[in-house]
Amino acid sequence: MSEQMHLSHVETVNFGSYYTPPDLVDAVYGMIQKNEPDWRAFRIIDTSCGYGNFLRFPRSIGADFDPKAIQEAGKQTHECTFFRHNSLSSVSRQQYGLSDDDKIIIVGNPPYNDRTSLIRNDLKAGTFETDKDLKHRDTGVSFLLSYNKLKADYVCVLHPLSYLIKKANFSSLSGFKDNYVLIDGMIISSGEFHDTSKTTHFPIIIALYKKSAQGMDYEFIRNHPFKTKDGKTFKINQFDSLGNYITKYPNHKSLSLNDTIAFFWTMRDINALKRAKTFIEHEVCNSIRVPKDKLSLYCYADVFKEYIPRIPYYFGNSDIMIDYEAFKNIEKSFMRKSLSKYPFLKKLSQEKASENDIFSINVYFQNLLSEHYVGKNAHTALCL
Ligand SMILES: C[S@@+](CC[C@H](N)C(=O)[O-])C[C@H]1O[C@@H](n2cnc3c(N)ncnc32)[C@H](O)[C@@H]1O
Repeated sequence: MSEQMHLSHVETVNFGSYYTPPDLVDAVYGMIQKNEPDWRAFRIIDTSCGYGNFLRFPRSIGADFDPKAIQEAGKQTHECTFFRHNSLSSVSRQQYGLSDDDKIIIVGNPPYNDRTSLIRNDLKAGTFETDKDLKHRDTGVSFLLSYNKLKADYVCVLHPLSYLIKKANFSSLSGFKDNYVLIDGMIISSGEFHDTSKTTHFPIIIALYKKSAQGMDYEFIRNHPFKTKDGKTFKINQFDSLGNYITKYPNHKSLSLNDTIAFFWTMRDINALKRAKTFIEHEVCNSIRVPKDKLSLYCYADVFKEYIPRIPYYFGNSDIMIDYEAFKNIEKSFMRKSLSKYPFLKKLSQEKASENDIFSINVYFQNLLSEHYVGKNAHTALCL
């Protein structure tokens, strides 16, 4: 049985109990076997095991704080050892009956609450005890830190790609990133899980980390060739980002109203832009003041939002990308396409976008995204 069935919606959200389908468990073991031929000499542990979907081999160890999940897991296999406990409290190898000499591989899909953070805050997720050195607002990060505390030799788990690619998140992986290196990985969509149909899909990485004194720095992540399930590869540093040219956050303190010609909603990443407004008529506490000399770049963000259906899920947590030179060549097209949509911006431009403008913008996005462009054909793009 792979699908979790005993929790209410609220509990599922609170515990992060989205169980892993068998094909993704296969992918985890495929990765381990490819990279560590001697993997059978290791003890396999899932410290957030649910019904034990990852516990396929004798002598594996499972833990979960959900009593019904552990009960169910115990029925599935008698050859594994189970612990019903909070895996983020008093974390140690002894907790699992393991010594420092045991070689261990941690597998699984720890709970994370980055996805629908608003709902989750309402539900007050994660109010249980957590070791001081593991505390983080995202439970998934706490779990990664706990693997370092257990001194796992390998870690092969699913987690949001944002933990690696967002610099602030990556920094909060402290002990983990300093002691582990990513040696293999595959990116999948959160849409592969049940119960996620109503949310915007975001990228999840099935990541294999190996203990290493070198660890990883952010440059390593920026240069890493991430592979997606459907055979695409990308690097974070292959794109320039709009954030290098404009502020994405409120700037009330640094720009006066006199120097402001428009207001724009805060931008975080591509998925946030998808849900958010762009230009707004009146200032609010988390809007951005747009100065005249940067107006075209905010028009760019506004038009970018229209093209989000052309952008694959795996860039959902990335910054808004830009080819600055190519953009500059057709800056006016972006301005006409954007400003003419908003009656309250009429004073800035009356001109409507021409067919030529639209064509140039289509070509721009096809070139920007190249093989990542969703719906490759130029004709489809023209019908946007
Ligand atoms: C995403 S599910 C994964 C379950 C299973 N590994 C799978 O992939 O099918 C996360 C599991 O973590 C458990 N969990 C959440 N916080 C925990 C904690 N602090 N200690 C132990 N288990 C926890 C939940 O009860 C849930 O079963």
